[in-house]
Amino acid sequence: MTNNQLASVAIKAKDMAYAPYSNFHVGAALLADDGTVYSGCNIESAAFSPTCCAERTALVKAVSEGVRKFTAIAVAGGPIGAAKSEYCYPCGVCRQMLYEFGGDELQVIIAKAEDDYRVHSLSELLPYGFGAMDLNRE
Ligand code: THU
Repeated sequence: MTNNQLASVAIKAKDMAYAPYSNFHVGAALLADDGTVYSGCNIESAAFSPTCCAERTALVKAVSEGVRKFTAIAVAGGPIGAAKSEYCYPCGVCRQMLYEFGGDELQVIIAKAEDDYRVHSLSELLPYGFGAMDLNRE
């Protein structure tokens, strides 16, 4: 799976977004160790705080099927109807959840288009992350 392909899945996943309050559509494509791709979109609630971001939607789909190791995630987002995505960076909650399963090395692909994206490691977006190791000190 190339970065372009993963970006393309994230861009398509945006179409499934349920975001009637923000009108901001986000798609994510999470690449598991075994090559499987889990897509996700943002899902909003009239009560606002239960809203689930696209990244966490993809993550809970994968983890609920027993998959816990990931190498990359692509994210694309933008206002409804926009021709192109914007560079849409994961929120703080999603960075923390991605750290739980992806660690420092997870590649985060922020896509505007299939051939227009930035690649970061999760450690750039969440330096000095708090994880399982911090709770398991002997
Ligand atoms: N959102 C995501 O799905 N992922 C991000 O990385 C940033 C924000 C969603 C949450 C909400 O539905 C909408 O975008 C506006 O914040």
